[in-house]
Amino acid sequence: MAQATAQLKDISGFMQYTRGGGTEIENPFEKPVVVPAMDNKGAAAHAWADARFAVDIMAEHALFFALLMPPEVAGPERTEAEGFNKTFAELYQQIDSSGPPQQNELKSFVGNITEKIKPFIEYKARLGEEQATGKLRSLVWPLFFEHTQHEAERWTRRLETLGGGESELDKDEVSTFWTNIMDEHCRFVAHLLDPDEFELIETAMSTSHVFRDLHNHGAITGAAVALAHEPSTVVGSLVENPETNAILSAAETLLDFTTKAARGIEAARIKSIIDPRLSDHVRRESLKFVDELKRAV
Ligand SMILES: [Fe+2]
Ligand SMILES: [Fe+2]
Repeated sequence: MAQATAQLKDISGFMQYTRGGGTEIENPFEKPVVVPAMDNKGAAAHAWADARFAVDIMAEHALFFALLMPPEVAGPERTEAEGFNKTFAELYQQIDSSGPPQQNELKSFVGNITEKIKPFIEYKARLGEEQATGKLRSLVWPLFFEHTQHEAERWTRRLETLGGGESELDKDEVSTFWTNIMDEHCRFVAHLLDPDEFELIETAMSTSHVFRDLHNHGAITGAAVALAHEPSTVVGSLVENPETNAILSAAETLLDFTTKAARGIEAARIKSIIDPRLSDHVRRESLKFVDELKRAV
């Protein structure tokens, strides 16, 4: 990872986000996020950065499933999860080391990745159904299967669009997709914190409510509804400029919250059953939301 990161600094047209904003990485759990430079609209550059991001996310989903599948109750499912983890970890290495595709390779580059994501979507849907109906008794919530399925489907759509040469992000699509994801992240966090963490659990639940309102009602009405529901919310900056900034400011507030949570979990200042790799995963997805919002038109 350190080696790959060092290489990336030399590729022009890209930039790297870190937790602290500088070049330092908070080892061993922080993974920096590489994105095209703000003025880089090249479809191949976006396809490479998004594929690199999404494939690592898929590898981690598989890892989290395996961690939540004790062999006694979900042996075969766990083995399958480990297989997906290996597939996506290898694909990540391949994408990372080969660099952005040439324009004439774009379609096959994207096709190769979406083909590998397909069986994982099917796995998430199948096990989500089994867990919901009691056929499977793993420690993976049905909503976690569904959430990660939605992410896999969204990255597939995004990569297909990029494969067609189109890099533009649509504000409505970005807001609608990610506000739902952020709502669910907050509820995941609330339910994985130690039950003694009263304050953090409340913050997580009220923040989830804000994102649900933004998701259901859109930026302008959603901000007003959220303020009515959660007057003491951490997303207080919603008041400032709800017309244009409600969703961005909510996303930035959540990024800040998830970054602090990741550090608190790593240092064991926060009591929870959250694996540090999961808290950094959630932080990176918040970061990607903020970044996409800034680019979306
Ligand atoms: Fe995820
Ligand atoms: Fe997520």
